[in-house]
Amino acid sequence: MKKLEVFGVAKLKGQIKISGSKNASLPILAATLLSNKKIFLTNLPRVKDIETMLLLLKSLGSIIEDNKKVTTIKNNKQVKSFASYSLVKTMRAGILVLGPLLAKFGKAKVSLPGGCAIGTRPVDIHLKALSKLGVKYKIIQGYVHANAPKGLIGANIRFPKISVGATENLIIAASLAKGKTILSNCAIEPEIKDLVNFLNKIGCNVKWISKRKVKIEGVTKVSQSNYQVMPDRIEAGTYLIAAALTEGNLKIIGIDPKIINTEINVLKKIGAKIIQKKNEISIWGSKKIKNINIRTSPYPGFPTDLQAQMMVLLCKANKKSYIREEIFENRFMHVAELNRMGAKISVVGNKATIEGNIEFKAAELMATDLRASVSLILAALVSKGKSVINRIYHLDRGYEDIEKKLKKIGVKIKRFN
Ligand code: EPZ
Repeated sequence: MKKLEVFGVAKLKGQIKISGSKNASLPILAATLLSNKKIFLTNLPRVKDIETMLLLLKSLGSIIEDNKKVTTIKNNKQVKSFASYSLVKTMRAGILVLGPLLAKFGKAKVSLPGGCAIGTRPVDIHLKALSKLGVKYKIIQGYVHANAPKGLIGANIRFPKISVGATENLIIAASLAKGKTILSNCAIEPEIKDLVNFLNKIGCNVKWISKRKVKIEGVTKVSQSNYQVMPDRIEAGTYLIAAALTEGNLKIIGIDPKIINTEINVLKKIGAKIIQKKNEISIWGSKKIKNINIRTSPYPGFPTDLQAQMMVLLCKANKKSYIREEIFENRFMHVAELNRMGAKISVVGNKATIEGNIEFKAAELMATDLRASVSLILAALVSKGKSVINRIYHLDRGYEDIEKKLKKIGVKIKRFN
């Protein structure tokens, strides 16, 4: 079984270059299905989820050349419209091909994502909104069978709940619909803004008309283009938290501090010193970590994808803290493993109570989901001795070259494949 050995205690020091954003790359890769021309993408992170999405596009008929710097995607007219469970089950974002396939071909058979460690991952918001564009669908044996007999017709749609994936699916689908679509109560994560920038670059017509409202004028065709994907704000936030945790000193380069303003303010409140420049953030962790209460929420609130990492940091705070997980129904899978390392975290419903002043102890651990895995690494950094983290395929889904990056900033870490 793939595992990592991490030797604590480490004090992080040095410079980290942030990789491309996994959660911007996935919808942008799905959106390439709209085009029959060559699309040149750069800065895609080399992580498992991106490889899976590229395999999914290939299974749909995309022709992909990839020299690890530039990924060229060319879709022909006869792209297939069947996305199989074998690929979608390992990467929930596979559902994001539904919108573009319906927009391009008027029909699609896409596997439901199925559940994962953090929750059931329903797609009802995606499907109900697509039906407002004229899509008819049935769920048969775990697959969405969808078609739009008269093509997609623009409409006014208000999402009942803020959903990143549903917002992305609908913006992509509406880009080729007949007429105008207005989407209200949208998610506004930076990754969605990156998707919109990409769509406009290939000739679509998508405009934000207020904070959570976007207008899409359907176009009949899209052109060839190149696009550089934005940096990964969750990777950046993870390394900032790691520096604060280990009383380290890191310079994070290649990210605009404005898009992680909430996280930076939280870290300043708990005592870290942070200097922001145009495309870099320097952080000095403090000896004394002050406690703070966190509630995850849609952007620009505190991101659920940094909740597990923050929990480790708050174990070292001077007093008790609370974290309320408002986005996913089961995103405390890391608590049991952290408690095995000496943490004192209790969970009632979606609220975790985190005792401070914890001395973590090295242990043999089991990763459960992407962000939980990295929280175990963070805890191992401040545990005396060797910790072993198993099932690190979760980690490989979303963190590019994590051992290389950690080694470069002073961590003794070894991978066993
Ligand atoms: C995206 O997932 C991200 N994934 C997640 O990152 C992130 O945690 C999440 O947004 C929230 O920010 C990608 O971008 C690939 P949602 P998504 O639709 O789109 C419920 C990571 O670690 N919901 O905003 O699936 C849903 O169950 C991953 O990189 C419905 O009820 O998130 C959840 O409770 C994990 N019906 C809430 O809404 C639906 O049709 C928010 O989900 C859709 C969602």
